Amino acid sequence: MKLTILGGGGFRVPLVYGALLGDHAEGRVTRVALHDVDAGRLDAVAGVLAEQAAAYKDAPDVVATTDLDEALRGADFVFSAIRVGGLEGRAADERIALAEGVLGQETVGAGGIAYGLRTVPVAVDIARRVAELAPDAWVINFTNPAGLVTEAMSRVLGDRVIGICDSPVGLGRRVAKTLGADPASAWIDYVGLNHLGWLRGLRVGGHDQLPRLLADTEALGSFEEGRLFGPEWLRTLGAIPNEYLHYYYFNRETVRAYQEAKQTRGAYLHTQQARFYEEMRQPGTPPLATWRRTLAEREATYMAANREAAGIGERDEDDLESGGYEKVALALMRAVARNERTTLILNVRNRGTLSVLDADAVVEVPCFVDADGAHPVAVAPLPLHAVGLVTAVKAVEREVLDAAESGSRAVAVRAFALHPLVDSVNVARRLVDGYRAEHPGLGYLNRP
Ligand code: G6P
Ligand code: MN
Repeated sequence: MKLTILGGGGFRVPLVYGALLGDHAEGRVTRVALHDVDAGRLDAVAGVLAEQAAAYKDAPDVVATTDLDEALRGADFVFSAIRVGGLEGRAADERIALAEGVLGQETVGAGGIAYGLRTVPVAVDIARRVAELAPDAWVINFTNPAGLVTEAMSRVLGDRVIGICDSPVGLGRRVAKTLGADPASAWIDYVGLNHLGWLRGLRVGGHDQLPRLLADTEALGSFEEGRLFGPEWLRTLGAIPNEYLHYYYFNRETVRAYQEAKQTRGAYLHTQQARFYEEMRQPGTPPLATWRRTLAEREATYMAANREAAGIGERDEDDLESGGYEKVALALMRAVARNERTTLILNVRNRGTLSVLDADAVVEVPCFVDADGAHPVAVAPLPLHAVGLVTAVKAVEREVLDAAESGSRAVAVRAFALHPLVDSVNVARRLVDGYRAEHPGLGYLNRP
């Protein structure tokens, strides 16, 4: 079984490889091909993987290459976790948006649109290469903005591309733990789009436990989303939103916190990650220990500006463990490759699951997964306020896809202007010009 990792020099690759190392069963991944456009980053990550592998007899073989076609040939699974424009691009996305007083987060609002406009053409090219060179491969997309990028790739690959994100899993796990329930056996009713979903119930033996949590102020104060949104707002919603909805419900405060922060998330990560890759170039650097330290630092500062805006201080020890994006990826691969049936929250084509969206819209919902792929499970309809956000944001995503295909500046302006977190058409126009001036990857938006 061959797994190809695109963005193979990326910082999270050792998490994925670590998950593979724990899998000793028949049908496991035995070969990993890392692909990256940057050979130096590949060297750094390959060094970490080699140290991880040393403790195992059956560790998957690793090859690294900057040749995409070579990496893709013979792949059974392709993980795509690329960052078009690098972290420098992410920092620029934030800076340009904040200068206009709007949010520049990499997946939400203006920043998400800019990043999407840059990434979609590259993701579509990759999808075409996969369709040609590894037509039977399953593509697992981590690349943000994950819902939008998955939808772009699904236009080429159909249901062979599945998007994943660890934030719904993390939320489900935190809520289950607070309720004293086993996250593996509880039914988690979570629906929406990527980074725009709500946990509306958590059933154990058919009984919804969420009302018990919503009634308990102390319990709500004990986990990240409970603290971010506060008990009163959670009771008003009757649901626990994904942490990224903090940017919507507390937009003014999060924009201000980002503006006042010493560094934006992208700028911080740009420096932090550059230091890691630089350290890895120095002879004598212990790869795994250096990577682990950098990871711990990165996790501890996740969403720091939001916590600042909410006045909730440091990240809790219990929340530091990520949702386990590598675990979701491995569970998905096992289910598909070995028919180990399971239910996972994934980004897939809607097919009537949310009746307000068309069949091809990629949504983030619980899916039954088996050897035939991921099948969305029927869910209760969203309340009207959530329908409003989901349909507005999906409309924006469609404009991004249209702009990426047509190269039309006017369509790009429409994408920004129609976003609920962009408050003026003039701002949208200036954003398109500002982003185009900054990013060579947006030069294609040169048609009227
Ligand atoms: C969460 C999100 C991912 C994101 C990751 C890292 O897991 O679901 O989409 O890539 O956090 O965020 P960061 O700000 O550290 O890059
Ligand atoms: Mn995510």
